[in-house]
Amino acid sequence: MLLTGASAGIGADMARQIAPTASRLILVARRRDRLEALAAELKQLRPALTVDVEPCDLSAPSEVEALLARLPDVDVLINNAGLGDMGLFEDSTTAKIDQMLQVNVVALTRLTHALLPGMVARKRGGVLNVSSSYGFLWTPGAAVYIGTKHYVTAFTESLRSELRGTGVVVTQLCPGPVESEFEDVAGSLLDQKPPRLVMLPSAVAARHALDAFRADHAFVISGWIPSLVLRIAGLTPRWLNRLMMAPMARMLRQHHDPRGRR
Ligand SMILES: NC(=O)c1ccc[n+]([C@@H]2O[C@H](COP(=O)([O-])OP(=O)(O)OC[C@H]3O[C@@H](n4cnc5c(N)ncnc54)[C@H](OP(=O)(O)O)[C@@H]3O)[C@@H](O)[C@H]2O)c1
Repeated sequence: MLLTGASAGIGADMARQIAPTASRLILVARRRDRLEALAAELKQLRPALTVDVEPCDLSAPSEVEALLARLPDVDVLINNAGLGDMGLFEDSTTAKIDQMLQVNVVALTRLTHALLPGMVARKRGGVLNVSSSYGFLWTPGAAVYIGTKHYVTAFTESLRSELRGTGVVVTQLCPGPVESEFEDVAGSLLDQKPPRLVMLPSAVAARHALDAFRADHAFVISGWIPSLVLRIAGLTPRWLNRLMMAPMARMLRQHHDPRGRR
């Protein structure tokens, strides 16, 4: 089983929850020290588990290719690594935009493309992608991140339909706000944190994802508030959605610093 974004948040909790039943776990992220500490924790939890630490910057295509060249057969791929960037698109840096596209979209697609044929040939295993509730809706203030998650959601649904009947499972986790390091990287809109009531512990989001994968569900929206919001949003015409988003867009522009965010 290969898990990206294992050094923090949802990914680290998935690793802890997978460890009791997996035989081999390959942990991928950039921070080697975090991965090694997690590997030691998992080995203590279950000495029979083989844990491979694979530090890799998924925003660098050459590193992704080098990782793929080292990998054994992988039955389950969990594409969890991802990052966001909150604020007006025009204030984002080119570097941050490239990083989001590379990690959230390009690396996820490349890893899936490389590892899926083996799963299909063996008629088992699967792909668990971590999208977001932003995979189903949009707001101002995170245009590229939301675009990448729409990609993940559409890609995963499409792939699932292609793989029906092959024995390969394709599932996605679409969480609302989760307590993790995500905000440290992405920042927050107008310096406002989401209300505590809507924040989900990363261990709960991880459990929802793994339960949905084991049950072969197409997707799971983690948290009852995001589920409710998505239900309402699904019934809302696009023109009404644009009208409702207008005050937020105005506020973002009022607080806009023309020198950019970074
Ligand atoms: N937290 C939320 O509110 C929320 C909501 C909806 C969806 N999500 C999605 O959930 C997933 C996990 O996020 P999280 O909340 O657990 O955030 P997190 O705590 O920031 O974890 C992100 C993980 O991605 C890895 N990562 C980031 N850039 C990378 C790169 N260039 N190469 C390799 N690994 C990289 C990080 O590892 P290194 O830094 O060590 O590389 C880390 O392990 C993401 O796909 C995110 O979009 C999160």
